[in-house]
Amino acid sequence: MEKVIVNLAYLLSASLFIFGLKGLSHPKTAVRGNLTASVGMLIAVLVTLLDKRIIDFSFIVAGLIVGALIGTILALKVEMTAMPQLVALFNGFGGGASALVAGSALMETHEPSIPFLLATVASGLIGAVTFSGSGVAFAKLQGLMKERPIRYSGEQIVKALVGLLGLGLGALIVLNPQSTFLYWILLAVGLVLGVLLTIAIGGADMPVVIALLNSYSGLAASATGFVLENNALIISGSLVGASGIILTNLMCKAMNRSLTNVLFGGFGEVKAQSDDIYEGKVKATTPEEVALLLEGARRVVIVPGYGMAVAQAQHAVRDLFNLLESKGIEVEFAIHPVAGRMPGHMNVLLAEVDIPYEKMKDLDEINPSFEQTDVVIVVGANDVVNPLAQTDPKSPIAGMPVLEVWKARTVVVIKRSLSPGFAGIPNPLFAMDNTLMLFADAKKALQEIVNALKES
Ligand code: TAP
Repeated sequence: MEKVIVNLAYLLSASLFIFGLKGLSHPKTAVRGNLTASVGMLIAVLVTLLDKRIIDFSFIVAGLIVGALIGTILALKVEMTAMPQLVALFNGFGGGASALVAGSALMETHEPSIPFLLATVASGLIGAVTFSGSGVAFAKLQGLMKERPIRYSGEQIVKALVGLLGLGLGALIVLNPQSTFLYWILLAVGLVLGVLLTIAIGGADMPVVIALLNSYSGLAASATGFVLENNALIISGSLVGASGIILTNLMCKAMNRSLTNVLFGGFGEVKAQSDDIYEGKVKATTPEEVALLLEGARRVVIVPGYGMAVAQAQHAVRDLFNLLESKGIEVEFAIHPVAGRMPGHMNVLLAEVDIPYEKMKDLDEINPSFEQTDVVIVVGANDVVNPLAQTDPKSPIAGMPVLEVWKARTVVVIKRSLSPGFAGIPNPLFAMDNTLMLFADAKKALQEIVNALKES
């Protein structure tokens, strides 16, 4: 194929990736953004396969059919709450593929240049770490492995030594490019390092780790792009690398934790203490009582959390929203940036049931309005409404920005028990004077409130 055509096609696909990412920055344009970037990737793959005469058309069509089938089945089958582990798998395969492709290029090249060797080593090491690290992240989130961080004495030294061994092997490969077996040892060391780095992190922090591994998979792909001198791969890898690290940073900020604390802090070790903060202070309520409260309200704020996703209560939330609005009650949604288990988790679920975007308010926007709110309904959220973040400097969530729901006249918390959330700590909100606990599955409770409101 003409070099100019190939480069123009790569330029087009790179532009589509950038427009795709831009689209992904807002829920309204996210689906279009995803499609745009997929078309970019399809163009890049087709052009590469045809240009290098790797395979002919019949294989490409067969690959498209098989890939589209697997993708469709996965998209339809995977639960929204299992999305982080699916992303972990994708990242892992991306990293593994980059390492293998760079390795095969090394085997085929007779007099490799220094930049080629450096890129190959980077791809091998980062790709292998991403592959095994993502495997551990998947296993922890899928419940195949204990979520607890695995800690042992001398842990940081062991990790540093294995890391240094990887770098040393990399240097050896650059100096002795003919000893290709060293590359496979490098991959093995990378795999061990990926496991060591991820087993030390609690299941709770896995979404952050997955965003970081996503960034690594981009870096590995970009390095492989340098090995193959493929511009589309260099650009797409860099975009993934950069967006992954931006996302990691945003998630850490929303939890008020540094990346070092996530990677080496062992968050998630905290066990729920049997505490006496609830004793004698928790007031339980019923759906009928909540319906009465809502009848008399002028402004209601709904705070969705991980429990809404678990209960798949978004449809019931929408029914309640419609009913309240039809009664002339102002309703808004308070969206915490890390509510749920993945970025944008709540936005996606609410958008799925057609809640208007302008009703979803982020933390800075909604916090000042709680004082003028009659009823807050917390639907399966816990950590994101925990006042300890502001009052207890020793708390694992100290400093994390939270939704100040307790400032409203009445707070109704819908959850099944007094069990802690993700951070494993108690929540004094549940024992506050103006809080009522509705102990039930979120979907069932909301349906009962809607029925009671309809009957009143
Ligand atoms: P959590 O603090 O995890 O609390 C969720 C609550 O939902 C639980 O206390 C649970 O209580 C309740 N629940 C579970 N199933 C339910 C059901 N079927 N019906 C009703 N309630 C149910 O959730 P959150 O407030 O959304 O906070 C998210 C946490 O995840 C934060 O700590 C955040 O830092 C962390 N995190 C989030 C992300 C992203 S990107 N979103 C990434 C990493 C970490 P019961 O068992 O009593 O029902």
